Amino acid sequence: MLSFDITRVDEVDSTNRLAREMASAGAPDGTVVVAARQTAGRGRLGRPWQSAGDYGLWLSVVLRPPFEAERGGMIGIGAGIAAARAIRDTTSARAILKWPNDVLIGGEKVAGVLVEGSSVDSQLLWAAVGIGINVCPPEGGFPLELRGIATSLAEHAPAGAPDRDVLLMAVLGQLAVVYDALCQGRVRRIREEASELMQATLGRHVTVTSATERYGGEALTLDDWGRLVIRRDDGNVVSVSSADVSLGSGFPR
Ligand code: BTN
Repeated sequence: MLSFDITRVDEVDSTNRLAREMASAGAPDGTVVVAARQTAGRGRLGRPWQSAGDYGLWLSVVLRPPFEAERGGMIGIGAGIAAARAIRDTTSARAILKWPNDVLIGGEKVAGVLVEGSSVDSQLLWAAVGIGINVCPPEGGFPLELRGIATSLAEHAPAGAPDRDVLLMAVLGQLAVVYDALCQGRVRRIREEASELMQATLGRHVTVTSATERYGGEALTLDDWGRLVIRRDDGNVVSVSSADVSLGSGFPR
């Protein structure tokens, strides 16, 4: 089972940037960077991730998975499961997943996952798995553009927001379990759990927005590579590995 070596910093531009640097310099599987604040937190698809204050859990983990780069999508799915399980364990809030790895409570995003990696000859060398969880709202509340879209654990935990160290240990513990399953090839079990957590998406009509196009279709299933299989409204069935997905015909949330 994976064990962790945790480095804590007060402030960094991005824990993922730092984890990537450490991975490139040879940091082993299980190296963790946790920051109280990020000055340039990064989200998926080149977006910023608001994390300039110490109101969340901002961490990145270096993994060196013994599998091909093609399976990399399952690492993000697995990290989403780990975050959702940790949130349920520490707050009892019902956290679910929106493909690929957004964690939602009550339809609003409470956590996100960003996986960046390096591979050679289709073999994954390392992955920097970034997880951001909004523990409390930022001072003054979420900015206008995120209202109704983002939420925090404090707003859903009857007993109050969890202690960030307790949450960190819960996330890492769950990540170790999921990673172990992936390394042992128990992909189907992980896929099944992700599918259960994605019940609000699977079987529903969704709008897919990728870098090049936007279309509607039915979200059919998750495949063994973590891709979302969509039956497009034009009847074609496609597997999507990188895009935004929103329920119905609206814009991504
Ligand atoms: C997303 O939902 O778009 C992914 C957000 C990932 C944010 C985390 S916070 C810790 C780590 N460092 C970063 O710069 N990003 C990730």
